[in-house]
Amino acid sequence: MTTPFTPLRLRDLDISNRLWMSPMCTYSANATGPATGSPTDFHLAQYTARAAGGAGLVMIEATGVRADGRISPYDLGLWDDTQTAAFTRLAASITAAGAVPAIQLAHAGRKASVDKPWLGGSPLDETQNGWPIVGPSETAFPGYPAPAELSVTEIADIVDAFAQAATRALQARFQVVEVHAAHGYLLHSFLSPASNTRTDNFGGSFNNRIRFPLEVIDAVRAVWPEDRPVFLRVSTTDWIQENPADERTGWTVEETIEFSRLAAEHGVDLVDSSSGGTEPAPIPRERDYQTRNAARIRTETALPVAAVGRINDAVWAAELIADGHADALFLGRPLLRDASWINNAATTLGAQPRYIEQYDYAL
Ligand SMILES: Cc1cc2nc3c(=O)[nH]c(=O)nc-3n(C[C@H](O)[C@H](O)[C@H](O)COP(=O)(O)O)c2cc1C
Repeated sequence: MTTPFTPLRLRDLDISNRLWMSPMCTYSANATGPATGSPTDFHLAQYTARAAGGAGLVMIEATGVRADGRISPYDLGLWDDTQTAAFTRLAASITAAGAVPAIQLAHAGRKASVDKPWLGGSPLDETQNGWPIVGPSETAFPGYPAPAELSVTEIADIVDAFAQAATRALQARFQVVEVHAAHGYLLHSFLSPASNTRTDNFGGSFNNRIRFPLEVIDAVRAVWPEDRPVFLRVSTTDWIQENPADERTGWTVEETIEFSRLAAEHGVDLVDSSSGGTEPAPIPRERDYQTRNAARIRTETALPVAAVGRINDAVWAAELIADGHADALFLGRPLLRDASWINNAATTLGAQPRYIEQYDYAL
């Protein structure tokens, strides 16, 4: 029987278990000066603690491939060579604590340029260290300014920025790179007809809406070594079609399944299955609200899939893996509450917690 502590091999990478740290913005990067976008001492402590706490893989939070692709001025970024050194230290620290270092590359699109959430998260203008935002069309996310519609040349520049950021992530010795195509950020906003109303080759039909995300996957795959995996985070649904009274047209699970198949043909090794974020829409309350769509993708595509969302119980986590709902599970808020959640889950499930020489002899 497969358990959360059964190792997983993707390409030539061995991951010691299947409970992983989900990417979570910490809004703790330098926001001004020469080290803008670089990890700080906070990041080093945050990620190393979760690695020591037993995570098989630690995914660094959304990292901007360009300065104007950050969610906030306090986000991490890999748009410049000067940023690579601090990421190298971060990846080394995660590796030393026993986890696979992974990094999520992102462009926030029409949801960029906002303040820290605990300061209200409001859109920032250029006098507040913010910047003009861009998107597939001029349709604004509610409460945000209207984005400028990206030209075809600008789209190509962003594809190139993803490849350059992936190259820097490789130089920093990350083992996995994840393309962020979820939560209403730039790539998801192209996928979804709710935010993409373009009439050129990048809008309209399904094949046109997936064109830019697939170009990003191709560009990242082209620089990422053959022996290392590329992950893709998707929102499986905009939660629009699920509501018959909603007249909008959103991105659907069926489209996600087809997109996942094509993404795999373009070199994606694992689909990280999240949901929502393009447009405000009610999200179901059940605990399996996201894991059930992950299970559908896994069944219908036979691709490796990671589930995420409200997985806060070790026994349920073990059932999700044993029953084949997912190959791996990302944990978010449980790891904010308790850095050693995964080691504790190992104890609960009769598996071996991560061996940390600095602690083990004393316990
Ligand atoms: C503070 C916070 C920051 C987040 N930042 C990101 C992010 O950078 N990238 C991303 O894909 N998801 C992000 N998420 C979503 C989480 O990765 C995760 O999918 C979500 O919290 C659901 O999992 P959970 O119920 O285990 O927390 C964030 C969530 C939280 C709570």
